[in-house]
Amino acid sequence: DVFLKLQQAVSLQPFNTLAVPARARYLVAVDSLGALQEAVDYSRQQDLERMVLGGGSNIVLASDFPGLVIQLNLRGSEILEERADAVTVQVAAGENWDDFVRFSLDQGWYGLENLSAIPGNVGAAPIQNIGAYGVELSSVLKAVVGYDIEAGTMRRLESEACELAYRDSIFKHTLKDRFVITAVELRLSKIAQPETSYPALMAELADETPTPEAVAQAVRRVRARKLPAPDTLPNAGSFFKNPIVDQACYERLRNAHPAMPAWPVASGVKLAAGWLLEQAGWKGYRGEGDLSGLGTYHEQALVLINPGRVAGQQVLALARAITESVSERFGVELDIEPRVYG
Ligand code: FAD
Ligand code: EPU
Repeated sequence: DVFLKLQQAVSLQPFNTLAVPARARYLVAVDSLGALQEAVDYSRQQDLERMVLGGGSNIVLASDFPGLVIQLNLRGSEILEERADAVTVQVAAGENWDDFVRFSLDQGWYGLENLSAIPGNVGAAPIQNIGAYGVELSSVLKAVVGYDIEAGTMRRLESEACELAYRDSIFKHTLKDRFVITAVELRLSKIAQPETSYPALMAELADETPTPEAVAQAVRRVRARKLPAPDTLPNAGSFFKNPIVDQACYERLRNAHPAMPAWPVASGVKLAAGWLLEQAGWKGYRGEGDLSGLGTYHEQALVLINPGRVAGQQVLALARAITESVSERFGVELDIEPRVYG
């Protein structure tokens, strides 16, 4: 019975990469669909809020969690369909994302190389449609399988139904807190199709032949330079999304800052939040007073760091100071990327 394993007053500090101290009233680790269903049933009977936890690399715990944390440990992967040129594989939500990226490359299955070294678990990948170095999950996602809490049934959503967009999906909107992703289906190619247009990746590859393995290694090198390893310097990756602004706003900023990086996208122009932070003087910031123990990474201003392992409320105070200063200076509003609890 799963409830024998229900733990109380559990520290979540080891389970969030920002290393924020916070406790869960209850925590249960589930390693089967049956256990997941029991845990959900229990939370409904007891009227407890739920938090589905993967690797904890994209959350801010702003207070203790008064409900039930469900640590999703479903493991395994299986081939659903194999053809001469492609494979469709189902991967359980609790698998480590980067372990699966490496495994897929070892099999000669391509499409995930640009998404190398992203922390967290497979089940979280569709939540914000993870993306890096010119590729998003949407380019390989076939379907998402999960437990629909309101319907009380398992359900499969084709990729088109997941409303994947930049750092966004249906799981942040209509299906927020009501759909537990238990597995994802990925369609990977057996034919290498390197995507090397992202400037930093192109520069890193220089004149190297862009085999999938070379691309993966180049991505790993660039990331190792720009992003701190959470186990030595607690962080949650990019703390803000890159803002998408309208043409008029873009032109106003470009006139004032001709060197400002920007990319046209369907809904407007995407700006680099890290550049905005750096220009506003936040790169390599070290907090003092109420903000001591916090800072921003010296190689990448968009990454808030928490070497002092201070509380989520303080992390959010730094985030507010940053968004206010960027808003004042550029007239651009930044949104937080990780999910904030409490
Ligand atoms: P968690 O933090 O555990 O959960 C995040 C949210 O998803 C929570 O709301 C949680 O409830 C929900 N969730 C998780 N699993 C499930 C599930 N199975 N069913 C339903 N809901 C679920 N992201 C990128 O897109 N690109 C990057 O390049 C990138 N680089 C990063 C670098 C660093 C150093 C760090 C720390 C983070 C980075 N991230 C990046 C963010 C993060 O790695 C991704 O968002 C990742 O997908 C989060 O996975 P997780 O398992 O840790 O999710
Ligand atoms: N930049 C600066 N100063 C900084 C940081 C960045 O000027 O301090 C400039 C860079 O020079 C570059 C541009 O901003 O011209 C973009 O920087 P970078 O390539 O480092 O990427 P990013 O836009 O800051 C995004 C994702 C990352 C992802 C990388 C690579 C978001 C919010 N972040 O960062 O994802 O790894 O691109 O594709 O979209 C995450 O989501 O947690 C994450 C790490």
